[in-house]
Amino acid sequence: MTDTTAWSLRLTERLQGKFRGQILSREPLNRHTYFRIGGPGDAMAFPADLEDLKTVLAAARHDGIPVLILGGGSNMLVLDGGFRGLVINLSRSFQELSAAEEQIRCGAGVRTSRLLAFSARAGLAGLEAVTGVPGTVGGAIHGNAGTHMGTITDHLDWVRLVDDSGDERCLSRRELGIAYRHVAFPPGAVVIEAAHTLRRGAASEIRRTISGLLVRRHLTQPVEARSAGCIFKNPSGDFAGRLVEQVGLKGLRRGGAQISERHGNFVVNLGGAAAQDVLWLIERAAGEVEARTGVALELEIQVVGSPCPA
Ligand code: EPU
Repeated sequence: MTDTTAWSLRLTERLQGKFRGQILSREPLNRHTYFRIGGPGDAMAFPADLEDLKTVLAAARHDGIPVLILGGGSNMLVLDGGFRGLVINLSRSFQELSAAEEQIRCGAGVRTSRLLAFSARAGLAGLEAVTGVPGTVGGAIHGNAGTHMGTITDHLDWVRLVDDSGDERCLSRRELGIAYRHVAFPPGAVVIEAAHTLRRGAASEIRRTISGLLVRRHLTQPVEARSAGCIFKNPSGDFAGRLVEQVGLKGLRRGGAQISERHGNFVVNLGGAAAQDVLWLIERAAGEVEARTGVALELEIQVVGSPCPA
C-alpha cells in the first residue's frame, strides 16, 4: 500500500458520517483545469457546504496533508505529476447569490459570468470590468483578476474567509493588501463569500458594455482555445504580450503547446500538451524577453504540483 493510499483511507475513515460531499481518489486534474493539463490529485473533495469545508480542512490539518484549493481552475498550471495531497474543489458549492439595495453578496463558487449576468439583471453597474474572466468568484478574488477596465476587487466591500481551525472572519477591502493581480490573504485562508457595493445603472447599458468587451476579447485573445489566460503579469508601463511579440516568439510550439499566434501572453493547448511543454515555452519567452529587452517578466498564473509522477 502506498503512502497516498494509506492517508486517503485514513482521511476517508475520519470523514465517515461527518462529510456529506463527494471524495474522489486519484482524480485527474486535467478534468478540472481550463488548460486541460495536469496529473492526478491524490484525493479530491467536493464539500457540500461550509460545515463540510471546515470538516475536511480540519481532517487534512490533523493528518498533515497538503491542501490545494481549486475554484474554476482557470488561472492555474498543474504539473504532470499532479498534486501530492488533497485538492478541495469549491466549484460545486458556495453558490449563493443575492442583492439587497446596491450590494451583491456572492458565494465563492459562483462563476464570474453568473455574477456578472446577475448584476446586469439587478441593474447594478461596476462589475463589467471582469467581463470574460473565467472561473469562480473565489478564484478571481484570490488573484485579483480583471481586465484593462479594472478588477474584481474594485467594488469589493468585504470577503468572508475560513481557515483550517474552522475560524471565520470578514476582512474589509482596506484590510486586504490589494495590488495588481494580487491580494495578500492571511496564510491558509479560504475565500467563501464576498460582497460588492455597486451603483445603479440601466440593465441595457450594462449589457452593452459587456457585449463590447466580449467582442474585443474575441478579437484579441484565443478565447476558443484551452489556456490559462495571461501567463505573465504586465510589467510596469508595458505589456507582456507586446514584448513576447517583439522578440518574435508568437506561434512557437513545443509538443502540444503553443505561444498563441493571436496574443503573445497566452500559451494554448493544441491537444495533448504536457505541463512541461508549457513550462518550456514560458521559460523560453521569459528568457528571451529579459535577454533582449532587460524586462524580467513575472508569472501571473499559479504553477502547482509535482513535475514527476509519484
Ligand atoms: N499586444 C501586442 N502583441 C500581442 C498582444 C498584445 O502587441 O501579442 C499589445 C496590444 O496591441 C495592446 C497591448 O499589447 O497595445 C495590450 O494588449 P491587450 O489589450 O490584449 O491587453 P493585455 O494587457 O495583454 C490585459 C489583461 C488581460 C485582459 C486584457 C483585456 C494582464 C496580464 N492581462 O491584457 O487579462 O483580458 O487586458 O482587458 O493584465 C488575464 O489576466 O489572464 C488576462 C487575460
